[in-house]
Amino acid sequence: MDDKITLTITRRKLTEVLIGLVAVFFAGGVLATILKYLWPASADKSSSSEVKIASADEVATGDAKKFMFNGKAAVLLKTPAGFRAFGAVCTHLGCVAYWKPDENILFCPCHLGKFDPNTGAVISGPPPSPLPAIDIIVKDGDVYALKWKDPDYVKSISFYAGAA
Ligand code: FES
Repeated sequence: MDDKITLTITRRKLTEVLIGLVAVFFAGGVLATILKYLWPASADKSSSSEVKIASADEVATGDAKKFMFNGKAAVLLKTPAGFRAFGAVCTHLGCVAYWKPDENILFCPCHLGKFDPNTGAVISGPPPSPLPAIDIIVKDGDVYALKWKDPDYVKSISFYAGAA
């Protein structure tokens, strides 16, 4: 006895199925576009994101920790005045600045840009503008990044385009 099952499909039926699948995918794309327009996911990422950076006791005074915020390299510092956080992508040509404790600065190695660890302001070098500050909060023993302190400023920095 032959246990084979033969499935016969006509060319016309196959064409109808394929057209139906294309129509479903097209309708899904249109629906997704409409939903994305009505509820843009990234309309104001900066106001709703809460990114845990570290536990509060993880970073000693005078120390720093790198993290990512809105897809950009960032740095958390613990200064004698408390925690500070900045985008670490240099406003000059986009290299990543880092904490240099021996000089008490955020330092960009590409062209020797130096930034103030309390404000992000340019101390010396070619960077045209400060590192963007990030609002943070210490909650239940952890430090969280909340949003760019000045989203309009961040939008004005070419290396941060799309991050605000
Ligand atoms: S890229 Fe930072 S100083 Fe030039």
